[in-house]
Amino acid sequence: MEENLKTMKAWQLHAFGLENLTLDNVDIPAPKHNEILIKVGAVSLNFRDKAIVDGIYTPDKIQFPVIPVSDTSGTVVAIGSGVNRFKIGDRVTSHLYSHWIDGKPADNEQEFSLGSPLSGGLAEYMILEEGSTVFSPSSLNDEEASTLPIAALTPWYSMVTCGNLKTGETVVLQGTGGVSIFGLQIAHALGAKTILTTSDDEKGQKAKDLGADEIVNYKQTPDWATEVLNLTNGIGADQILDIAGGEGLNDSVRAAKVGGQVSVIGFLQGQNTNLDLMNVIFKRTRVQGIAVGHLKAFEEMNKAFDKYNIKPVIEKIYSFEEAIEAYQHLAKGAFGKIVIKIS
Ligand SMILES: NC(=O)c1ccc[n+]([C@@H]2O[C@H](COP(=O)([O-])OP(=O)(O)OC[C@H]3O[C@@H](n4cnc5c(N)ncnc54)[C@H](OP(=O)(O)O)[C@@H]3O)[C@@H](O)[C@H]2O)c1
Repeated sequence: MEENLKTMKAWQLHAFGLENLTLDNVDIPAPKHNEILIKVGAVSLNFRDKAIVDGIYTPDKIQFPVIPVSDTSGTVVAIGSGVNRFKIGDRVTSHLYSHWIDGKPADNEQEFSLGSPLSGGLAEYMILEEGSTVFSPSSLNDEEASTLPIAALTPWYSMVTCGNLKTGETVVLQGTGGVSIFGLQIAHALGAKTILTTSDDEKGQKAKDLGADEIVNYKQTPDWATEVLNLTNGIGADQILDIAGGEGLNDSVRAAKVGGQVSVIGFLQGQNTNLDLMNVIFKRTRVQGIAVGHLKAFEEMNKAFDKYNIKPVIEKIYSFEEAIEAYQHLAKGAFGKIVIKIS
């Protein structure tokens, strides 16, 4: 880090609404005990980042101004006292739930999440706690590694940590957003059979190119669950990653095999559902709520990314100055991830 450099550029959210996100000059924070300062290489955007700006994601927790965006990769440029896991020059990536290291989550993990309420990475420099930071996979550059903390860890934690996914099992992925495309790539790399639903045949073809075994267009075939049963000889899938939520959760239970796992991840169709309990009971479905994942799972996942050479699918990389355009792109949806390159 350049000597005497005292200030940095940082996007700060001063109130809800994208019009209140401004590029400011602020002091570069100094790393305290057990903290590291990183020069940010890139951040990636998630649905959560837009929801925070829109004031619909834990709005009571936010303290303005805040530097938004959780998912960040960069290089360590300074370390605080007591730091021994990292040294200057290491390439690292942030971990959303900074206090959830292993095992079961505490009931207040949200309070220690990056990008709100804790400061995020949409800035030239960022402080991270050494205990809640991971080494970036050596096979990925910062733009690629920045896509991992939410969008990749969520399907990894669902399928592998909770679901113990095995070669030859079948996984259903919904849509072609960040979570589902990573879910597809991970499941495919681990030798699972994948069925992906999408509203768009062109995106379906791209998903096939990434290894999807079967594509179901959920607009043309609204009863996609029956189609999944047909494609699995009437048995159903071992795991469903449900990112749509709402009433569709019933379809996910129907599409799962007896004793299968439905990971409840997203709520694109709604945050409430009338769940047919008799189906859940008779099928002994494991309905598993998911909130991203813990740091130990993140480290295991990064090894798998290196081992299987999984390359994140990035639809577009914006410059630091184009952050607003990146958020606007996120609102329109993307095949895979949207990244902002910072240095
Ligand atoms: N619980 C967690 O830990 C966690 C973590 C990450 C994300 N999430 C949540 O998961 C959801 C997805 O996140 P994301 O980042 O992947 O979003 P995204 O990148 O914006 O993905 C949106 C895609 O979802 C698909 N989709 C929308 N409605 C659908 C429906 N009814 N059925 C099937 N697919 C549908 C569409 O794919 P097509 O265009 O191909 O149709 C759309 O492009 C969001 O609700 C997000 O908040 C939760």
